[in-house]
Amino acid sequence: MNKVRKAVFPVAGLGTRFLPVTKASPKEMMPIVDKPLIQYAVEEAIAAGVSDMIFVTGRTKRAIEDHFDKAYELESELALRHKTETLSFVQNMLPRHINCIYIRQPEALGLGHAILCAKPVIGDEPFAVLLADDLLDGQPPVMKQMADVFDYYRCSVIGVLDVPPAETGSYGMVKSFSIAERLERIEAIVEKPKPEDAPSTLGVVGRYILTARIFHHLERVAPGSGGEIQLTDGIASLLREEQVLAHRYTGTRYDCGSKLGYLRATVELGRRHPEVGADFDRYLRHLERGPA
Ligand code: G1P
Repeated sequence: MNKVRKAVFPVAGLGTRFLPVTKASPKEMMPIVDKPLIQYAVEEAIAAGVSDMIFVTGRTKRAIEDHFDKAYELESELALRHKTETLSFVQNMLPRHINCIYIRQPEALGLGHAILCAKPVIGDEPFAVLLADDLLDGQPPVMKQMADVFDYYRCSVIGVLDVPPAETGSYGMVKSFSIAERLERIEAIVEKPKPEDAPSTLGVVGRYILTARIFHHLERVAPGSGGEIQLTDGIASLLREEQVLAHRYTGTRYDCGSKLGYLRATVELGRRHPEVGADFDRYLRHLERGPA
């Protein structure tokens, strides 16, 4: 089996939790300070050695294509005004060897269906999946941690973390046993169970490395939770023939699919931002002290 060279970014979701801002713009383009969520995810994939970025998009998602495309008007304006530093920043947003590929998901039939849409481009290789609204801040970056696990074990790897028992209904939940430090072997996985039905408190975050065999299973699973084709159900089926591991990653997760998680990410990454971080931190301390 090869290295992980391809990553899928399912970005066709409607983003209803952030309406009205997501009415005409993709939720993946929402910025944390000055960089859209999708760019954090792409940079994480690049750090893991991925070179082909496959975006499964839908209507109203054109801004994502434009974001990673050459910006002729902007670049010629910047050149005319001799803004060389800004120009080179815009031109070098992605390393030259990175390819961006766009596929349309014609109907929002679920995460599993979105992944299946990427099958013609993936072929027979292992590949990564990154859900951009899970912003993961890790050193090394979380997908790199998982690619290292994949290189060693040569099987599917899923990012997991302990979630509060009351929140199992928001995650894929796994039953597993420990095989090494931070590494579990998955015995069962279930999508969004009620707390009383959850097999554990170990929840799946939006990071996966999957073998191409997943497509065979996704083609056969019936609609599950929410009437959608669920990636979790495809993995549950894959488990019957292949080992699947869960990696307890190191790093901080910001659930940018929720308003509170998004605000947390903005504050914490804002505080560390190279340009405005120090001033923003002073401002927050001032706020905490309250009125004099
Ligand atoms: C998806 C997956 C779920 C996973 C979650 C992580 O759900 O279906 O298994 O735990 O992402 O963020 P969503 O949050 O898109 O409903």
